[in-house]
Amino acid sequence: MKKVTTASLLKMKQNGEKITMLTAYDASFAKLFDEQGVDVILVGDSLGMVLKGDDDTLSVTVSDIAYHTTAVNKGTNRTMLIADMPFMSYATKEQTFANAAKLMAAGANMVKLEGGDWLLESISALVERGIPVCGHLGLTPQSVNIFGGFKVQGREQEQADKIIADALHLQQAGVQLLVLECVPTDLAGMIADKLTIPVIGIGAGNKTDGQVLVMHDMFGISANYMPKFSKNYLIEGGDMRKAVELYINEVKSGVFPSEKHSFN
Ligand code: KIV
Repeated sequence: MKKVTTASLLKMKQNGEKITMLTAYDASFAKLFDEQGVDVILVGDSLGMVLKGDDDTLSVTVSDIAYHTTAVNKGTNRTMLIADMPFMSYATKEQTFANAAKLMAAGANMVKLEGGDWLLESISALVERGIPVCGHLGLTPQSVNIFGGFKVQGREQEQADKIIADALHLQQAGVQLLVLECVPTDLAGMIADKLTIPVIGIGAGNKTDGQVLVMHDMFGISANYMPKFSKNYLIEGGDMRKAVELYINEVKSGVFPSEKHSFN
């Protein structure tokens, strides 16, 4: 099977085919997801919460992500692999270069950074040097202490306008994929329509170009709680392979996320 690339993701958006994405942190799950046909795997800094049991993602290090990226890379064949840049690993341009290079060397095909306008220079510089970038807007968990909790973003017009402007600027700076987390469905749909790059939602309704879930939420085994926007596919699927197959079918057909899993 042909490897999923930035070019194939773009084609999927242009053809109206929804993109499926899941987090993974080890070779075994990565292999299972790859074999079932998941398009993109994210080694997310969510590992701080679902693997380490923390209340947030802030303690995750570049070494943590590199370690798990190496493992996930061994399990993937077709699936595209994105590695999260953890909290404070891209605070300066120099740190951004050095840390992104480490994650690419560990096997990532793209790195993901949380934030808007303040990142534009770093993003262009990474892209100019051959490192593809995924943006992340809306509820950016590394800023949980600024937000005062894990809260839906973009409900106020001013905030929504800022997210739209940031999304356009990130695209201009060169990001080839954008994750929108916990924003109202119509705002996410409007952004997906405005951008030419694919927009992947999590808690962002069903009008984006694809969906991502944290694998532990999708299997209903997260240590602390089940977010409103997630769904336990293991209950319906009965086993892990079927659960992933069901997730893919529901994302591709637009059944997931339903109203129940979205914010308005
Ligand atoms: O860290 C992560 O798993 C993420 C997803 C929730 C998009 O950033």
